[in-house]
Amino acid sequence: MSRILITSAIPYINGIKHLGNLVGSQLPADLYARYCRARGHEVLFLCATDEHGTPAELAAAKANKPIAEFCTEMHDIQATIGAGFGLSFDHFGRSSSPQNRELTQYFAGALADNGLIEEVTEKQVYSHTDGRFLPDRYIEGTCPNCGYEKARGDQCENCTKQLDPTDLINPCSAISGSTDLEVRETKHLYLLQSKLRDKLSAWIDSKTDWPILTTSIARKWLNDGDGLQDRGITRDLDWGVPVKRGTEDWPGMEGKVFYVWFDAPIEYIACAREWQDAGKGTDWESWWRTDKGADDVRYVQFMGKDNVPFHTLSFPATIIGADDNWKLVDYIKSSNYLNYEGGQFSTSQGRGVFQDQALEILPADYWRWWLLSHAPETSDTEFTWETFQTDVNKDLADVLGNFVSRVTKFCRSKFGEEVPAGGELSERGTALIADLQEKLGQYTAHMEAIELRKSAATLRSMWVAGNEFLQSAAPWSVFKTDPEAAAADVRLALNLIRLYAQLSAPFIPEAAARMMADMNTAPGAWPEDLPTVLTALPPGHAFTTPEVLFAKITDEQREDWASRFSGTRD
Ligand code: MF3
Ligand code: ZN
Repeated sequence: MSRILITSAIPYINGIKHLGNLVGSQLPADLYARYCRARGHEVLFLCATDEHGTPAELAAAKANKPIAEFCTEMHDIQATIGAGFGLSFDHFGRSSSPQNRELTQYFAGALADNGLIEEVTEKQVYSHTDGRFLPDRYIEGTCPNCGYEKARGDQCENCTKQLDPTDLINPCSAISGSTDLEVRETKHLYLLQSKLRDKLSAWIDSKTDWPILTTSIARKWLNDGDGLQDRGITRDLDWGVPVKRGTEDWPGMEGKVFYVWFDAPIEYIACAREWQDAGKGTDWESWWRTDKGADDVRYVQFMGKDNVPFHTLSFPATIIGADDNWKLVDYIKSSNYLNYEGGQFSTSQGRGVFQDQALEILPADYWRWWLLSHAPETSDTEFTWETFQTDVNKDLADVLGNFVSRVTKFCRSKFGEEVPAGGELSERGTALIADLQEKLGQYTAHMEAIELRKSAATLRSMWVAGNEFLQSAAPWSVFKTDPEAAAADVRLALNLIRLYAQLSAPFIPEAAARMMADMNTAPGAWPEDLPTVLTALPPGHAFTTPEVLFAKITDEQREDWASRFSGTRD
C-alpha cells in the first residue's frame, strides 16, 4: 500500500465550466483517485476553486454582487456540480481560504529570505474614475498600427500587434469607459526564477517517464528564452491575498495583493490543511512536507496543457526556492483540448455544453464514459453529438447494459433470481476466463500508467468478450436440451457482472454501484486470479434483476440537444 496525493488544476471561480474543463483535469484525476483507492492505496484527492484575480472581480461586477459573496455562491455551485459528476474529492477547497492566505504569505517570506524576491518600480495606468490601476487588457483605445478603435492595452485584436497601454491613442478604461487616466509609478515584487533555471532544468531532465506533452511544453519554456523570466507576483488590486512577508507587513506594499497565479497553486497545499481543519483527516503535513513523512508520498497532478508551464516551472520555482522541505510533484498528466462541433468550447462566449446543462440532460456516467474514453491525450479531440450518441449507445447500452440485462432476465425466467447450481465450466467458459485474465493485466497496466483511452478501450474489450461469450454459448437454446450446462454458463455470466462492476467503477461509478447492489455483493480486493474471482457469487446467491442500466440516446434527443446547444449561452 502506498500513499498517493492527487490534485486537479483548480477551476476559476468566474462561472460554470464547460465539458472541456472536466475532461482536461478533474475527470482523469477522479478516475485515477478511484482506481488507486480500489487498489487499496491511501489517497488524498484535492481540488478547489481559484478565486482571485481580475476575471473573478469582473464576473462579480457583472453579476452585480460583492465579490466575496459571489465567490461563496459560485464555489457552492461548482461543488454541487462536481458531486453531480461523481468527483470524489477528499476536499474541495477555496483559494481565498485563511489557510491559503497564511501559506501564500509564508512562501513569499521564505523566497525573500532566500534572496529570490526583488522590488521593482514600474509605470502603470491608473483610472481616477475607477479608483484603481488597470491591468493592460482593461485599457482600450485606437491601435496606432491599424486604426482599430477597440484595441486592448496588451494587443490589437484586429492586426495582432503587441502593444503597450501607453501606445494606444485615446485610451480609456474598459471597465467604466472613463478617459480620466494617468500613468503612475507603482512598486511590485518580482520572483527571480531565472536564478533557479539550472535546478529546474535538471529536475525536468530527471522526469524521463513524464508524458511528452508535459515535458515538451516545459522544455520549450525553459529554452525559448522568454519562459523563465523573472515574474511579477503582486498586483494593484483589492481582491486577493494581501502582500505580507510571512507574518510581517511588507513596507511599500500596502494595499497590494499577490498575483493569482502565485497563490493558486499554493492552494494545493492549503487545501490539505483545509481538509484537516474541516475535520476530515489529520496530519496534513505528512502529505506535503518531506521532513514529516511526505517522502514516501507519490504526488500526481492533472491539468490542461495551458496550465503546464505554471506547474512545471513557476510552482516548482516557489517550492524549490522556499527550500523548506516541501514536496515536489512526481508525475504530471496533462491534456490537450476538447473541441465542440467544429469550434472551441468557450466560457466567455458561452459556446458548447456546460457542466450543469450536461447533468440536466443525462446521468453523469454517460459523460464520464464518453469523455474519458475520448480523452484528448495525444491530440485535441472533438465532441460531436453524433459520435457521442453512437459511442454511448454502443458501449454502454448495446454491450455492457445489454449483457447485464440478458443474463439476469434469462436467469430469472429459468432458474429464479439466484445464482444457479449444477454443470461444469465449459471449454468456452475456460477460454473466456483466459482471455479476460490477459486483458485484466493490460487494463491494470494502462490504469497504472494513467493511459486513459487505452484503459477505456481495454475495459470495453472485456465487456465485448462477455457479450460474445453469451451470444455463442446461447444458454437460452442450450437450456432446452442441457439445463445443467446452461446453468454453468449463466453462473459464470452473473459473476462477470460483479467483475465488470468492480473494474468499471472508476469510469462509471454510479452504474457500477447499482450493478454491485443488484448482484447483492460488494467489491473485494482488486481482482487478480480470475478463476477464483469469478466464483465469488456461489450457487444459491440471490440477486435482483436490474432496471435498464443505460437507456439509449434517441435520434430525437440528439437533434434536440444539438440545436439547443448550437448557439451561445449568456
Ligand atoms: N484556474 C486555472 C485554470 O483554470 C488553473 C489554476 S491551477 C493552479 O486554468 F495550480 F494554479 F492552482
Ligand atoms: Zn491594430
